[in-house]
Amino acid sequence: MTVPITVALLGGGTVGSQVARLLLEQQADLAARVGAPLELVGVAVRDASRPREGVPATLLTDDPGALAARGSDIVVELMGGIEPARSLILQAMAAGSSIVTANKALLAVDGATLHQAAAEHGVDLYFEASVAGAIPLLRPLRESLAGDHVTRVLGIVNGTTNFILSKMEEEGADYADVLAQAQALGYAEADPTADVAGLDAAAKAAILAELAFHTRVTSEDVFCEGITEVTSEDIQAARDMGFVIKLLAVAERTSDGTGVIVRVHPAMVPREHPLASVRDAFNAVFIEAQSAGEMMFYGRGAGGAPTASAVLGDVVAVARNHLAGGRGPRASTYADLTVRGIEEAQTRYYVNLDVTDRPGVLATVAQAFSDNGVSIQVVRQDGHGDDAGLVVRTHLASDGALRRTVDGLRGLDVVKRVVGVMRVEGEAGA
Ligand code: NAP
Ligand code: HSE
Repeated sequence: MTVPITVALLGGGTVGSQVARLLLEQQADLAARVGAPLELVGVAVRDASRPREGVPATLLTDDPGALAARGSDIVVELMGGIEPARSLILQAMAAGSSIVTANKALLAVDGATLHQAAAEHGVDLYFEASVAGAIPLLRPLRESLAGDHVTRVLGIVNGTTNFILSKMEEEGADYADVLAQAQALGYAEADPTADVAGLDAAAKAAILAELAFHTRVTSEDVFCEGITEVTSEDIQAARDMGFVIKLLAVAERTSDGTGVIVRVHPAMVPREHPLASVRDAFNAVFIEAQSAGEMMFYGRGAGGAPTASAVLGDVVAVARNHLAGGRGPRASTYADLTVRGIEEAQTRYYVNLDVTDRPGVLATVAQAFSDNGVSIQVVRQDGHGDDAGLVVRTHLASDGALRRTVDGLRGLDVVKRVVGVMRVEGEAGA
């Protein structure tokens, strides 16, 4: 009889409980696909006395250390956070276990330690579910595009914030109410600040950038702004101009090819752009590569079952490697490009101003743009009483120049208030 491949689960929450359920429900199919049965040997949780749907109580344990150290063939880490997840993974690798994890926070903070330990112990480290939930994205980057030269990765990689922005845009829903819904649906992180402050997307952007550009990138390297400052007025103003607001992650090579810039921030996207129609907790990512051209990956970016699908895919891949006596691809950071700051990114801005309505004001405002070498694409003016609303959209310029322009505008007597500033992405040919 074929010897089973043992699988230990650290974490039996939103994702872990779905992984356990699928491992048990799909036992026969998984065994046929792998070539050996997968045997779930334990599920570590904080509170083992609480029943988990689809997980036999006999498998639950509140001792993750013992489960990690028992030398299972595969340890699946779905606890989240930095510690004790990191120590448990290292402990499991030292005991000869290969690792599957969805823990983007840990990978983006200290992936180097995990990759190094995997190499030392000759085990696999797979993490497809850490970025964009169910969407196969990391394997295409790591394997299918290994022969190409990726220039840019851009997309929506956080389900919670996309859910919030979609509901605010389409239903005029209240921010706090929609966030509570996202939590109830299992989309949000244990601390949802990670989602709304952009930190979850920043961790994913770092992972994507590392794979795309063969360069070590950590969370700290990512410029990060979340959606907490996005107001319903911003959403309305964007709609009036034919745009929607999305939280985007962008990782791109600098034009001279020697650096990479990685950023996460809300951006206005034209309504006709494919990203504009990505709603709810769906994610979508564009990859631009020199030979392949542009590709779009789309699917469910969060939630227990979709994420469990990606985890199971990794478990099967690692189990196959185990049977074949080999290992999957190792971390590749040979290119060692310089990670550059946001100031060098080429972006476009939308700037919404309340200005005094008198002759010469438009020229004064235009001068502030010109002083910083920023070219204006569109200006729209609405008068109201003694004041006027002025909306300006720019052509491409360095983010640094655009920020200096906005600082300059704030200092002008004729500018009563800077009502809103946002980056614009996805416009063609401007
Ligand atoms: P979750 O629902 O909070 O589940 C965490 C699980 O880990 C729970 O079962 C918890 O036990 C257990 N746990 C946490 N700390 C523990 C400790 N010190 N000792 C023992 N058990 C511990 O989280 P989740 O949403 O499933 O997310 C898990 C991981 O997947 C995270 O890294 C997350 O970023 C990632 N991820 C989540 C999604 C998603 O849509 N939810 C998508 C992609 C990736 P109790 O149940 O007893 O509290
Ligand atoms: N909290 C994350 C999100 C889970 O909302 O996208 C998926 O990684």
